[in-house]
Amino acid sequence: MWNLPGSCLLLLSVIRCATHALQTWPSSIDELEDIMFLNTGYRNRGFGALVTPCGFTSTEDTTRSNAAEWLRTAFHDMANIALAGGRNGGLDASLVYELGASNIGAGFETTLRNFVPYYSTRSSMADIIALGVYASVRSCGGPVIPIRTGRKDAIKQTGIIGGTPLPQNDIGTFVNQFHRMGFNQTEMIQLVACGHTIGVTHSNDFPEVVSNASASNAFQSLDSTRNTFDSAIAQDYLNGSTTDALSSQYAIANKQASDFVVFNSDNNATITPMADPTTFQNICQSLLQRMIEVVVDPSILTDPIEVYDVKPAALQLSLMDGGDQISFTGEIRVRTTSKPIDSVQIMYWDRIGIPGPNNTITTTLKGTAQGFEDQFSVGSAQHTAMTVSNIGSFMDSILSFHQNLLYHLSLSK
Ligand SMILES: *[C@@H]1O[C@H](CO)[C@@H](O)[C@H](O)[C@H]1NC(C)=O
Ligand SMILES: *[C@@H]1O[C@H](CO)[C@@H](O)[C@H](O)[C@H]1NC(C)=O
Ligand SMILES: *[C@@H]1O[C@H](CO)[C@@H](O)[C@H](O)[C@H]1NC(C)=O
Ligand SMILES: *[C@@H]1O[C@H](CO)[C@@H](O)[C@H](O)[C@H]1NC(C)=O
Ligand SMILES: *[C@@H]1O[C@H](CO)[C@@H](O)[C@H](O)[C@H]1NC(C)=O
Repeated sequence: MWNLPGSCLLLLSVIRCATHALQTWPSSIDELEDIMFLNTGYRNRGFGALVTPCGFTSTEDTTRSNAAEWLRTAFHDMANIALAGGRNGGLDASLVYELGASNIGAGFETTLRNFVPYYSTRSSMADIIALGVYASVRSCGGPVIPIRTGRKDAIKQTGIIGGTPLPQNDIGTFVNQFHRMGFNQTEMIQLVACGHTIGVTHSNDFPEVVSNASASNAFQSLDSTRNTFDSAIAQDYLNGSTTDALSSQYAIANKQASDFVVFNSDNNATITPMADPTTFQNICQSLLQRMIEVVVDPSILTDPIEVYDVKPAALQLSLMDGGDQISFTGEIRVRTTSKPIDSVQIMYWDRIGIPGPNNTITTTLKGTAQGFEDQFSVGSAQHTAMTVSNIGSFMDSILSFHQNLLYHLSLSK
């Protein structure tokens, strides 16, 4: 039990409110929050599990990594943004209509198929693509990328057709393309390094980058740690040991060594500090967030999704025969990451306005769930009777759940 005395409840909620606004349930982020945080365990959504582990997880090809493909998908979907003639494109899931052309490789279609089960009226495909960046980067040991939501899905091809950078482009074209996306030359170098720290290049897709002499679909890692989101892409390049096909002599000879062209474009001034592991993570956290926020109207994006400390699910309230009792059925998910719990109780306000021992619903533990950084326990109450005369705040359709924080659940009026 971890119900605290009333004064403490108040104190803690005031402290919490002073630092940042309390996320209130229900909210537009609720479905995405489940997808983002419930990787395994009770009522898991299994989204993060698709990119775990970071390496060759694709069920379609043993030389392909879902994590690397999800990250690449977000970049390619965003990269078509058009500024002139009315801003359009950006991260809007228009990739669905743009496969082929400058979006080369089977990974995009696989990724979109991975995402389809998560698509709903409460989770746009574009927001799911953004969530895919969080999940893939975390699975590979990278930073937490904050995920704002509210992206709108395109219903047709948008932006610049063929607007994605290709390995054979010259540096002037790269600079112009990234400038169109909102990144200057420094940021272009940084973003390319962040994107190429995981995964491989396949010869079938880029025969001028990876020679197919050894196998019909040979692949070459982009750095020495293709399953880790780390600074090896920069370290390897700088110390002359790189395995990155996009910096190789073969690709240089074919004029398709785009990583070399990009990294070298300011005489290595930007790539050099990125060899530092912490610098690398910090830069990538910031730039990948910016990458997924390249949308037509950034002002519509919500605050970043935050994990709920307490979140209800499957709530049902019904008036029981006789009319003096209400039956409560539902589940309460409690975040236990830094605070294990024994049990979950729900307390509602009585007519005097305080939670009391007679206004308590006890729950049974249904299970636990895990995300990349959090653990949860879920308590369930089945058909618990609440005496109507004890329910105060219910009258204005507000039920309050007290743990060590104050939560308001707005039920339908
Ligand atoms: C790009 O923008 C960053 C941040 O404003 C700045 O520090 C950097 O010097 C700029 N780089 C170029 C090449 O303009
Ligand atoms: C390599 O690619 C070339 C051109 O696409 C093709 O003609 C050749 O058969 C391929 N070789 C192998 C071993 O797959
Ligand atoms: C280059 O850096 C990598 C780490 O990214 C390291 O494993 C490798 O030993 C280094 N090679 C040389 C020649 O210093
Ligand atoms: C940048 O680093 C690469 C890899 O070590 C090297 O080949 C290249 O010559 C360097 N560029 C400059 C201008 O020093
Ligand atoms: C709780 O209910 C019991 C039994 O109905 C009653 O005796 C008691 O006074 C109630 N306690 C409070 C705090 O309302």
